[in-house]
Amino acid sequence: MGKTFKTICLVLLSAVFLVGVADNADAAKKKIPKKPKYVGAAKCNGSCHDPYYQAWKNSPHGKSFNSLKPGEKAEAKKKAKLDPEKDYTTDPQCLRCHTTGYRESGGFKPAGSKNKKGKNVSTKIDPEEPSKEQVGCEMCHSAAGGGQFRVVMKNTKGDFKKDETEKYGQRWDYENTCSRCHNHPKSPHGDAKLDYAKVKDTVHPFAKFITEDNADQNIVKDGKVKDRAKTKAKSEETPLVIEDWDIKKDKLKFTKGTQPYDKKKKSFNYKK
Ligand code: HEC
Ligand code: HEC
Ligand code: HEC
Repeated sequence: MGKTFKTICLVLLSAVFLVGVADNADAAKKKIPKKPKYVGAAKCNGSCHDPYYQAWKNSPHGKSFNSLKPGEKAEAKKKAKLDPEKDYTTDPQCLRCHTTGYRESGGFKPAGSKNKKGKNVSTKIDPEEPSKEQVGCEMCHSAAGGGQFRVVMKNTKGDFKKDETEKYGQRWDYENTCSRCHNHPKSPHGDAKLDYAKVKDTVHPFAKFITEDNADQNIVKDGKVKDRAKTKAKSEETPLVIEDWDIKKDKLKFTKGTQPYDKKKKSFNYKK
């Protein structure tokens, strides 16, 4: 073989190789969905947040749907003047605070939910893998569901700045977020105050759930949480508004202007 021919072949081969690598890198980066929507806690687990998921699964928020079943938590129900024998798992009065994204895009749909064509669209429940039927990650961490910023997290392998996910609806106003349900005016449970500083570490004590299999997902140990804590997100400076709602004809309707994400304007509503 002539020397020139060999060189040409080598150049061509490397070109093919380089294009291939670039293609793969693009393929690995997923497209961010156009609209925010709820995806459920099981999706936050996947290959990313297993220690947080396991901790959450074993916490009251990871079991909040079960409290709506007849016979469960009878004392608490009597205290709230509720009927301990009644099945509340499809009751719109309860679902907003005891499940994920109820009456919002991608959110929980109770048993018996049908679309316009009459097809059953109720959320599938897997008792082994709690997800949208409980108070999931997205109720504290998102303004309208985590479907978009989850992709940013994946594409950056968790190495993102607060504002990069905040613009896709991740919220960092943690203490404010609790008041979407705790001490909310529409709560049937009275107004027992929540001491945020005292209870925040009980929400998902993930350190106890780190195992050999998920040790690579310890984002506290790898410094990412600490790095982010050095910066302040917009929602930490000015918290988002808190939803209000009414039940009309057995349907929950959010009060206009009280939702943290404005679907029409594609913008966020902050407290004034
Ligand atoms: C505005 C939000 C909100 C609504 C609406 C709501 N809950 Fe709750 N629920 C909570 C919160 C927050 C707690 C935990 C703290 C507390 O008791 O205030 C709770 C606790 C409970 C508990 C006690 C759980 C335990 O472990 O002791 C039961 C049972 C319960 N809710 C049932 C219901 C039922 C049934 C409905 C509907 C009739 C309902 N809730 C509506 C927010 C809500
Ligand atoms: C009831 C509210 C609530 C729920 C539900 C919840 N979290 Fe959190 N999460 C918090 C709070 C509050 C903090 C901040 C704690 C602190 O400041 O020490 C936090 C912090 C985190 C962090 C660290 C963020 C950072 O970079 O600083 C991760 C990761 C996380 N949560 C993941 C999850 C996952 C995954 C789920 C669901 C399986 C979940 N959370 C469910 C309230 C919640
Ligand atoms: C979407 C509604 C919702 C949000 C948001 C929410 N919670 Fe809860 N929380 C509940 C419900 C419902 C329960 C009761 C779960 C059950 O059925 O046992 C609960 C129970 C708890 C409990 C145990 C019961 C108690 O009152 O001591 C703690 C602690 C708690 N939440 C802390 C928080 C904190 C801290 C935040 C904010 C970072 C938060 N929650 C945000 C709905 C919510």
